Amino acid sequence: VPEQTSYALTPSPFQGVTLVGGGPGDPELLTIAGMRALLGADVVVTDRLGPVSLLPELGDVEVIDVGKTPYGPATSQEEINRILVEKGSAGLSVVRLKGGDNFVFGRGFEEVIDLRDAGVPIRVIPGVSSPIAVPGLGGVPITHRGVSHEFTIVSGHLAPSHPDSLVNWTALAAMSGTIVLMMAVVNGPAIADVLIRHGRAGSTPVAVVVDGSLPTQRVIRTTLADLGAVIAAEDVQPPAIFVIGAVAAL
Ligand SMILES: C[S@@+](CC[C@H](N)C(=O)[O-])C[C@H]1O[C@@H](n2cnc3c(N)ncnc32)[C@H](O)[C@@H]1O
Repeated sequence: VPEQTSYALTPSPFQGVTLVGGGPGDPELLTIAGMRALLGADVVVTDRLGPVSLLPELGDVEVIDVGKTPYGPATSQEEINRILVEKGSAGLSVVRLKGGDNFVFGRGFEEVIDLRDAGVPIRVIPGVSSPIAVPGLGGVPITHRGVSHEFTIVSGHLAPSHPDSLVNWTALAAMSGTIVLMMAVVNGPAIADVLIRHGRAGSTPVAVVVDGSLPTQRVIRTTLADLGAVIAAEDVQPPAIFVIGAVAAL
């Protein structure tokens, strides 16, 4: 995090690559350090999620959009790493801007490894991560005294039956706390089924928060048993967070 003696929004350039967590999308939820890094950037390598609406206001900066459309065409991670190494080695002030926090399902550490191997200086500015922030924006606390004393953040990117899935769905179903499911629009129905099969009640409340922090934000309340039908009926599209557990009924 850049050293500072004042909280005025002065540019904070850094020769190398600064990983900036941009928060869930509303530019107001970018940190002060993140905004100062952006103001000091020569190059911004950005994703689709995060505070992209402020990029046109940055003025004289090269913006490289490597945004990944879920399940759609993407700039490969290898190509993104190559761009970061090339720009970062050229003595430029480069910001790698991602939605939420770079290290929460953001492949941020893959970028760190390649940059480190290439000798490019790295600075890290954490971001407001969506699994924490988006439920709150939707009116759902992920913990509440006497209701849920634990929460587990889970990627739903791979189906429970996928051989590469590292999630212990049986253990997850047996826990009583909140489950925050990310990247789960496609696999949500299969995940709901597996959680019910391993012991979570079909009546378990679920809150679906779509486009958290954006003008298009919406919140849908349902149950685990009805999740699949609701995703289809409400035409839920990414980005969406599913909050599963008693807190979703508060
Ligand atoms: C590849 S992950 C990146 C997460 C990000 N690094 C973070 O810390 O929030 C993308 C997933 O995050 C969740 N997500 C991110 N921003 C969101 C938003 N504004 N509203 C709802 N879900 C969001 C969705 O589950 C989406 O599929």
